[in-house]
Amino acid sequence: MEKKMPREMTGAELKSMLKSSINFKSLGGLKCDELTLPPEDKQWWRDAKIGMFVHWGLYSILGRGEWVRFNEKIPKEEYEALADQFIPRDFDMKEWMEIAKGFGAKYAVMVTRHHDGFSLWNSEGSHEHFTSWHRGAHRDFVGEYAAACREAGLKVGVYYSPMDWRFPGYFDPEGLPENAALMKKQCYAQVEELCSRYRPDILWYDGGWLAHKGSDTSSAWFWEPVKLNKMARSYNPKLLINPRSGWEGDFYCDEGSHEITGGIIPVPWEKNMCVCSGSSWGWMAEDPVSDFDWLIRMMVNVVCRGGNWLVNIGPDRNGRISDEIRKRMFQVGDWLRVYGESIYAASAGPYEPVDNVYGSTWHGNKVYLHILDVEAFRSCVLPYTENRIKNAALFSGEKAGEKVEAAETPEGIRLVLPEGTGQDGEPDIIVVLTMEEEVRAGGDAEIYFTGKE
Ligand code: GLC
Repeated sequence: MEKKMPREMTGAELKSMLKSSINFKSLGGLKCDELTLPPEDKQWWRDAKIGMFVHWGLYSILGRGEWVRFNEKIPKEEYEALADQFIPRDFDMKEWMEIAKGFGAKYAVMVTRHHDGFSLWNSEGSHEHFTSWHRGAHRDFVGEYAAACREAGLKVGVYYSPMDWRFPGYFDPEGLPENAALMKKQCYAQVEELCSRYRPDILWYDGGWLAHKGSDTSSAWFWEPVKLNKMARSYNPKLLINPRSGWEGDFYCDEGSHEITGGIIPVPWEKNMCVCSGSSWGWMAEDPVSDFDWLIRMMVNVVCRGGNWLVNIGPDRNGRISDEIRKRMFQVGDWLRVYGESIYAASAGPYEPVDNVYGSTWHGNKVYLHILDVEAFRSCVLPYTENRIKNAALFSGEKAGEKVEAAETPEGIRLVLPEGTGQDGEPDIIVVLTMEEEVRAGGDAEIYFTGKE
């Protein structure tokens, strides 16, 4: 099959896309045919849909966010002394896995080293051996995490920050090239350690830029992400890599808890955000947990637009997850245990979402309409597609199982929801449509964001 040229998005169209709901991080990373995975190698990830993200490190002792060292200009000695206090008592990674499973996650992503440079494994490549193995805890938390994930049946993701604030060369790579080169050397050595020892399924970079300026892509001259990722893939040819190394990656990222609106996004993408509503990814004492209904609607909005949902928790210095977070994670998981067939392994479509009213997912000959506003939905009609509806029924709420009438009108199909639908307070009213045959819907598109104006 002839390969079509990727489409370039530039100028006003690009601006228009950027100002809309999706702010894909690291748009326009370098392209490299050798690194491009075929869609079938990404399918497990696309089917997995739900992941749990964990930010945990020295910053969890201070509780003022993972950027605390930089934001508060904490002197090197003072911050690094925390490494001797990072000794989680009676902590077992199984606790995190219980929560990940409780939440319904199929994969996890753990911060193995954030921008502060502290590594959570026995890293020989770590500059000055600033690790949990050489200091306080004397433990290899990444090893414990990877083993616990596998035992729990979760795919293993590792977050790694190429940049490290400990190096003055990070802030002035051209003025201090030797120091910057040391940081790069650390990055290559550590990515190799992570990939060769723990064999992750996902490598999740963050901070592939320089001096906090420009973008990951504009710093690619320094990091040489194609070389870096070829090395990483030599340990797992099917390793999934996010887009923040300067190479375009296997999927896009949309970060933060802003709403997702607009149409289906026809590329693999992941929304990453926190379960708490504060401004930090690392532990903070007073960080309110987001509302359950809001979380469900966020998840539905993501999945109905083709995305995965990666939700972050910040354990405290002892690795403990607060009761409020635990409760909320299980609550979402309980929902997924009942309605998961409309989420896991489901594709977005065939109907385009209508913001705050409904969206849809499907697999086989079933279409799941996720209705977020029953009243507004009553005046909507579904467009005709190639598939005919055989029957329709409520799937969620107190009236689950009740038939929904599908009336064909010249404008489209009007679904008549039973009286009282949605009055039981469900955040998402699901209607399952059984189609006469397998659903046919559009696949992925190839879109090339250049990031150029
Ligand atoms: C942001 C934060 C960073 C965090 C990341 C997770 O980029 O600055 O600290 O690790 O989001 O995606």
